[in-house]
Amino acid sequence: MGVGIIGIGKKTADNVITNEDLCKIMDTSNEWIVERTGITERRIATTQKSLDLAVEATKEALEGIDYDSIDLVIVATITPDMLVPSMASLVKMHLGLKNAIVFDLNSACSGFVYTLWTAESLMNASFEKTGRKINRALVIGSERISRMADWTDRGSCILFGDGAGAVVLERREGETGIITTFLKNYDDVNQALWCGIEYEPNPFSGDEVSPPRTLQMSGIQVFKFAVTAVNEVMEQVLEYAGMDADDVDFYVPHQANLRIIKSAAARFGQSLDKFQININTTGNVSAASIPMALYDAVKAGKIKEGDTIMVVGFGGGLSAGATLLKMW
Ligand code: UT7
Repeated sequence: MGVGIIGIGKKTADNVITNEDLCKIMDTSNEWIVERTGITERRIATTQKSLDLAVEATKEALEGIDYDSIDLVIVATITPDMLVPSMASLVKMHLGLKNAIVFDLNSACSGFVYTLWTAESLMNASFEKTGRKINRALVIGSERISRMADWTDRGSCILFGDGAGAVVLERREGETGIITTFLKNYDDVNQALWCGIEYEPNPFSGDEVSPPRTLQMSGIQVFKFAVTAVNEVMEQVLEYAGMDADDVDFYVPHQANLRIIKSAAARFGQSLDKFQININTTGNVSAASIPMALYDAVKAGKIKEGDTIMVVGFGGGLSAGATLLKMW
């Protein structure tokens, strides 16, 4: 039994914001941002909601696929338009995916890898029991991180962008798709990546101090965590599969900082050409970053049918994970 990708879609946000644009509203420079992050521009949604991005990416992923055949939808996001209904419920309603079971998953920038693992696990488990079988699933990453960023903090806001990516998974007899996954969670004891929600006070509790509603990030702490965690999950997933780094045809890492990607390539003795890099034009799109990068790699012909690829995510929680899969 195998679960593999049969459709892919992407939607970038409408407004291109260059480093020069940022220089007009904060004390920064194109040189600093390019040198420290690899980013030259990012897309920021002005008229689109997270749902609009998710729906457009999903429509593209579903081209030629019967909407009624979708049994499951999971949206990975930390920036849903609303808490209730879930983003997945809104996507289902908007596209008329009448047979789908739907929910959201929050694992920050690792969200796509965690969602892939969850969908594959549920698909396989559903065939081991009597009852509803999940044969096809939609896995979507959709973010409007620009709503969450602290635009007064030049050390973090310059990183982020908005967008969505989606893949359709199918379960097939006798074929290998997803090979294996390794996930690991670490405790964010120093609040290195932290963002609160503000609720109205209720009449039964005293005044609570609300955590900040914008993303607070200790860049250097997250950077150190990311380099270590990426090495660990890449090493472990290769060990699970009994493979080594040379057996992987192409790598699709979370796009958080070009220096993190370069460090992973060097650590595993791989050419940077084997790594998808689009952070220069997208910035960090959190849970949407990997499916968007995967889309670009597929469309550019860098990934072909039969290739073994690795997707690697890391981020808030703190969380990290890697999946090895064969492309259909
Ligand atoms: O998706 C997962 C979540 N996020 C990440 O993976 C992000 C991981 N971290 C990073 O990518 C990097 O830490 C950053 C790009 C965020 C920051 O780079 P850094 O090399 O760690 O810079 P820093 O925060 O240590 O700051 C170095 C200097 C400071 O100046 P002083 O104190 O040395 O004089 C900052 O004030 O750079 C200054 N600085 C800036 N200068 C110009 C910080 N931000 C900026 C800026 N423009 N935008």
